[in-house]
Amino acid sequence: MNVGGSSPAENASPAQWADMVDNLQRAALESRLGIPIIYGIDAVHGNNNVYGATIFPHNVGLGATRDADLVKRIGAATALEVRACGIHYAFAPCVAVCKDPRWGRCYESFGEDTEIVRNMTSIVSGLQGEPPEGHPKGYPFLAGRDNVIACAKHFVGDGGTHKGLNEGNAIMSYEDLERIHMAPYFDCISQGVCTIMASYSSWNGVPLHSSHFLLTEVLKEKLGFKGFIISDSEALDRLSNPYGSNYRQSILTAINAGVDMVGTSSGFDFLNMLFLNNLNILGVYLQVMVPIRYPLFLDGLTDLVERGKVSMARIDDAVERILRVKFAAGLFENPLSDRSLLQTSGCELHRKLAREAVRKSLVLLKNGKDPKQPFLPLNRSAKKILIAGTHSDDIGYQCGGWTMTWDGKSGKITIGTTILDAVREAVGGDTEVIYDPEPSAETLASQDFSFAIVAVGEAPYAEFSGDRKELPIPFNGAEIISSVADKVPTLAILISGRPLCIEPRIFDKVDALVAAWLPGTEGAGITDVIFGDYEFQGKLPVSWLKSVEQLPLNATENSYDPLFPIGFGLSSKRELL
Ligand code: GLC
Repeated sequence: MNVGGSSPAENASPAQWADMVDNLQRAALESRLGIPIIYGIDAVHGNNNVYGATIFPHNVGLGATRDADLVKRIGAATALEVRACGIHYAFAPCVAVCKDPRWGRCYESFGEDTEIVRNMTSIVSGLQGEPPEGHPKGYPFLAGRDNVIACAKHFVGDGGTHKGLNEGNAIMSYEDLERIHMAPYFDCISQGVCTIMASYSSWNGVPLHSSHFLLTEVLKEKLGFKGFIISDSEALDRLSNPYGSNYRQSILTAINAGVDMVGTSSGFDFLNMLFLNNLNILGVYLQVMVPIRYPLFLDGLTDLVERGKVSMARIDDAVERILRVKFAAGLFENPLSDRSLLQTSGCELHRKLAREAVRKSLVLLKNGKDPKQPFLPLNRSAKKILIAGTHSDDIGYQCGGWTMTWDGKSGKITIGTTILDAVREAVGGDTEVIYDPEPSAETLASQDFSFAIVAVGEAPYAEFSGDRKELPIPFNGAEIISSVADKVPTLAILISGRPLCIEPRIFDKVDALVAAWLPGTEGAGITDVIFGDYEFQGKLPVSWLKSVEQLPLNATENSYDPLFPIGFGLSSKRELL
């Protein structure tokens, strides 16, 4: 397992990635049985660990498109860019149904509605290829060397925990768990998904990694899943308290529950992992997910089998499933990378696809203080315009978490087009573009701007680092919007992994408001729409809260009173509902 941010070298090229994976593979092929390895990476919105790769909108934005064919094409493009690096396996898609935006992984979910998420599982057929008619139900499928092994995650109920706490506890009946959170797995399995990752979270107090009922009786027996179940990273360590203690008991519990492959612990806490992540040993970054504690795991499991605590039948089941996936993936026939794919990484065709996805993901929440006077589309020949806000010129912010590093970061982290870049490309030659992230009152008063575009939002985060109790617009974003909108006609753009609380005074002041989610590298998809080359068509995949006191919002309840309901989205010309 490649942890987010690990790489063969700083900004390694696809060829360097392929060299690293091929070297690991050659070592495996020289082993006693010569069984090839599977190298897995979190390619969750493009091949997002690799410098220069195409970064697509995160899943919440794709959910806003409601476009299953688009998402399937994104899967196919992602597969090519992953295979270009010699990597066989993508820990995607996350098919969580996020019921509470306070969850730090809300943006990894296609939405709060099960049907939206089910529709977006088409990405599995993009990643792996589409199984032919008659492909046996539940069996893993992989079309060929342009496709990757996919991983539906995190089974099950990760998006339904109490208060949206990451790795928390989903408290509900089995019927609700199956109807709301398990249904997307039916679609993944019917598309031949090769692997499923167990969730760190619990159901009614039972950790998923220790649930024989859900992993074996339901997933393997009732649903007939014939691929393999992989643990989440260091999940076995989390089964014991204190963390990582009594590891042997955790091995026993997880393997007997039905886990087939273990992302074994490094044994370090996360900070050490981050330190190790940047430790350059012998010119190769230590792959922290190359488990430091694997001897402990192997000794422990061997001992448990020898003492009859874990049956050979259980081991045979796991080994059979893993080999089945490796055979389906053609790894025995073609264990090494296909270098003819190298030029697909970050290629123009994929960037055009990502730009299309950005266009279709934008949700127009307000267009004009008077609906009869639409503010958008903007005039690209305006005399002088202001581009403001903390998120107008930052690729890192546009991409969000799981980009170049585990939890992402701001700045020029990879190749891409910021909103500012895109505006400069979009406007006429006589238009003066002034960029000022936080313009002063003097600037606003002294210059005669035709209009302002103000992009604000969240900093990148991942998993627990994204859990929130409150959901304000960070970095004083509301005040930046307010000060600009007081003086200049303003389009506000929110760059965020989830809905954020918008005070009524802010909403009233802006002339237009767009939710752009985490669009990735192709910022021109935003200008394509705000300047009118394309229509807005995005619809909210989540309810837009008024305040966190309302959470969790549930569209089926009478008390449902969001600022904007799930499904809401204006068009520059007409209401989309
Ligand atoms: C993480 C995430 C999971 C990811 C895995 C490997 O902790 O929970 O989504 O695929 O570890 O990086």
